[in-house]
Amino acid sequence: MITQQIKSAIRDIPDFPKPGIIFKDITPILKDPVLCENIVNAFVEQLKGKRIDVIAGIESRGFLFGLTLATKLGVPFVPIRKAGKLPFTIKQKAYKLEYGTAIIECHIDAFEPGQHVLIHDDLLATGGTVTAASELIKEMGCEIAGFCFVVELGFLEGRQRIAPISDTLVVLAE
Ligand code: PRP
Ligand code: MG
Repeated sequence: MITQQIKSAIRDIPDFPKPGIIFKDITPILKDPVLCENIVNAFVEQLKGKRIDVIAGIESRGFLFGLTLATKLGVPFVPIRKAGKLPFTIKQKAYKLEYGTAIIECHIDAFEPGQHVLIHDDLLATGGTVTAASELIKEMGCEIAGFCFVVELGFLEGRQRIAPISDTLVVLAE
């Protein structure tokens, strides 16, 4: 039921940001507070029994449900940001894109060694971003508790890419 609600709310935008790409626009979900609450509750339900000490959310759309989920679970939220945004001392990770490279960063005091960190983003596409995030988090001395996403683009096979990192994967809509 939540799957259908999410699928109905997401708006497909052809040829954005470039020709041939169909962009998954989640902004209609954000206009529906009941659906937003249902999404967070579905994450909580499907993550029951897992040790989660921290939620790491990926800039920018991973911040939207990431903080709400962390608040609901009563655990800290850590923003994983694009390069140059964080003001304090940072640790960074470069990763490959289709063309070129990107960098993600966190503050050096964002995590405590040994914490079990759940990585959240709105969308799983190639899995490149969350794989880089997991490497960054592991270099901070933490364990990866798992991943959760609102939606997945299955044909890009991000799921296969992140499978070796953790068995715990929650995707609400495919
Ligand atoms: C999108 C999406 C995920 C990422 C998924 O973010 O929100 O973060 O791409 O791609 P991947 O699985 O291939 O790494 P985007 O870079 O468009 O930025 P935004 O969240 O700031 O809009
Ligand atoms: Mg994003």
